[in-house]
Amino acid sequence: MFADQEFMQRALALAERGRGWVNPNPMVGCVIVHHGVVVAEGWHERAGAAHAEAMACAQCTPEVLRDSVVYVTLEPCAHTGRTAPCVDLFLRNPPKRVVVAMKDPNPRVAGGGIEKLKQAGIPVETGLLEKEAARLNEIFVKYVTTRLPWVTAKCAMSLDGKIATYSGHSRWITGVEARQATHALRHAHDAIMVGSRTVLCDKPQLTTRLEGVEGRNPIRIVLDAEGILAGNDEVFPDRTQAPVWVVGNETLSWPFADRVMALPENAGGVDLQVLMKRLGEEGVTSVLIEGGGETLSSAFFDRIVDKLCFFVAPKIIGGRDAVTPVEGIGVDHMSRALQMCDLQCRSFGSDLCLEAYVDQNGSFSSGEERGA
Ligand SMILES: NC(=O)c1ccc[n+]([C@@H]2O[C@H](COP(=O)([O-])OP(=O)(O)OC[C@H]3O[C@@H](n4cnc5c(N)ncnc54)[C@H](OP(=O)(O)O)[C@@H]3O)[C@@H](O)[C@H]2O)c1
Ligand SMILES: [Zn+2]
Repeated sequence: MFADQEFMQRALALAERGRGWVNPNPMVGCVIVHHGVVVAEGWHERAGAAHAEAMACAQCTPEVLRDSVVYVTLEPCAHTGRTAPCVDLFLRNPPKRVVVAMKDPNPRVAGGGIEKLKQAGIPVETGLLEKEAARLNEIFVKYVTTRLPWVTAKCAMSLDGKIATYSGHSRWITGVEARQATHALRHAHDAIMVGSRTVLCDKPQLTTRLEGVEGRNPIRIVLDAEGILAGNDEVFPDRTQAPVWVVGNETLSWPFADRVMALPENAGGVDLQVLMKRLGEEGVTSVLIEGGGETLSSAFFDRIVDKLCFFVAPKIIGGRDAVTPVEGIGVDHMSRALQMCDLQCRSFGSDLCLEAYVDQNGSFSSGEERGA
């Protein structure tokens, strides 16, 4: 039904409000509709706060709830966590119908909430705007099913595909709107990762600075296998903003590091799959990789990237020695190029953002192609 879709779209928009704040939980939105009129709305605001269904149910009387249709973007929970199970709200006051966008992907609960509602005789429909709901919670879905962080690769490049000038200068390639979008990406991820040369060239803060709204700072992770930043006391002067973790050799020391992680290496440096596994075990649900070119190359060739967000500015930088988004050696044959899918484009001021997902069935990885 068209109206069903509209109400679910509203529930998805409400869910979006929790982005960044709810990790490691999913974003969830809920709309209660009484005779075609929205009478209550809820969303999960922060991890530990009320669930979307509880927030919405608190806004209507039991009588109204029993005479309403409930739209919720994720299967209502059936287990007691930090809050009581949401299905109980509906078992106490059964609505006329419950429309669910997607099942809870957590293998331990999948289907349990829906089953309980059905057993109580409540009509439940599942799958409305399911793809949109899964996309909204792509970080949560991957983490809860694999315990690996979701990885987004980000860069800002010129129209001719450079992320810096030949001298290493890169501030700024894109305009203020695109840079705000980058801060929104930082807010949405648990960790941000860069290569040592980026830190050396740009001295970035890697914090979230959203105009007019509060944001969350991710953990800052620096790959510095050779230790070119060891002993450097000029970078990350804002130590209290967010932790800095260095992936490097334990025998060296970094004055700005809150932690040093020593990890096994492969042909191209630290094995990033091992790093992701370790981060996942420690509860990091998502990583935003902000370059530079060598780091993004390792990330793509180690097959850890799920999605890319490449901002493109209408500028030409030129220069055969200017760094490109993905350096390394690259593939030798087009048949080995990494296949991306669902390519989309959004505008930010005079810049574009190209978004695409890695086709996880594609080829691309082969030891000898790794960049050194
Ligand atoms: N426009 C943008 O979006 C953007 C973003 C970031 C950077 N940049 C620009 O890009 C340039 C820097 O890029 P870059 O390609 O030269 O360097 P980079 O990727 O920032 O850093 C390269 C270094 O990171 C370390 N590294 C990367 N992958 C690793 C792995 N798997 N294991 C261990 N260490 C790893 C290596 O350190 P070791 O050598 O110690 O092994 C490597 O030398 C700068 O000019 C910067 O301004 C632009
Ligand atoms: Zn719940």
